[in-house]
Amino acid sequence: MSRIAYVNGRYLPAREACVNVEDRGYQFADGVYEVCEVRNGRLIDAPRHLARLERSLRELRITQPMTLTALQFVMQETVRRNRVDQGLVYLQVTRGVARRDHPFPLQPIAPSVVVTSRNVNPAKAQENASKGIAVITTPENRWPRVDIKSVSLLPNVLAKQAAREAGAYEAWYVDGQGKVTEGSSSNAWIITRDGRVITRHTDNFILSGITRAVLKHVLEALQLRLEERAFTPTEAYEAAEAFVTSAGQLVMPVVKIDGREIGDGKPGSVAKRLREEFHRFAHIS
Ligand code: PDD
Repeated sequence: MSRIAYVNGRYLPAREACVNVEDRGYQFADGVYEVCEVRNGRLIDAPRHLARLERSLRELRITQPMTLTALQFVMQETVRRNRVDQGLVYLQVTRGVARRDHPFPLQPIAPSVVVTSRNVNPAKAQENASKGIAVITTPENRWPRVDIKSVSLLPNVLAKQAAREAGAYEAWYVDGQGKVTEGSSSNAWIITRDGRVITRHTDNFILSGITRAVLKHVLEALQLRLEERAFTPTEAYEAAEAFVTSAGQLVMPVVKIDGREIGDGKPGSVAKRLREEFHRFAHIS
């Protein structure tokens, strides 16, 4: 079955789907995106992802292409047409097409919208979770507005590649104060030996993750103590457990940071429990 992509109002076979070479997303990374989990063919936390998209668009003064309800419909329809059962849906909105020139176009232009969706192998994801992943740390080198989910991801791409070349799966950025901000495509968490769950507070230096927000409700229900503050790599090396969160990875245990084993070097029991409980607290549509 050929894959279908939504591009500016049309559902097209993926190989025919294309955007204009003068699209500002292509020329300047002048656009934003969301990645939403698909589970049993349903969207997980779509309203939260769309609310964040709306905010990202507003921060960059990109016109909202259609209502959030209409965007959600397009996401659902793209999932349906691709017969995605367990996977992801990707939504991207750019400022639109204009002759290449840095400032915003003088005349209003229509934003470009692309939606794609694909299956992921749930057995593979579960296998990763049961083994846990390795993480490296890397100096923070991104702009100070990473709260905007912009498609400008070059530092993230390079950090992820460095992780892969070091035999790890994710890279955690460490800022000028020696504190972990977040991962290249996930939020970073540790659990101390006395059971406190720590993740960095949200501001313009991290992306306010949707998985992170939902997990706060899980922690509350399980009566686990949360501290929203920055932590150092040393605190992470000495932690009982560590994990990352994202729409794609959900709660993914971390078993090694910079080559040092975390806890007993196996996925922690709390992280495992949080992963199991997650969807009870997520919004399904
Ligand atoms: N990444 N931090 C960064 C830098 C991210 O790119 C992501 C998500 C997160 C977690 O956010 P959420 O829980 O809303 O997925 C944190 C997506 C999945 C990606 O780029 O593929």
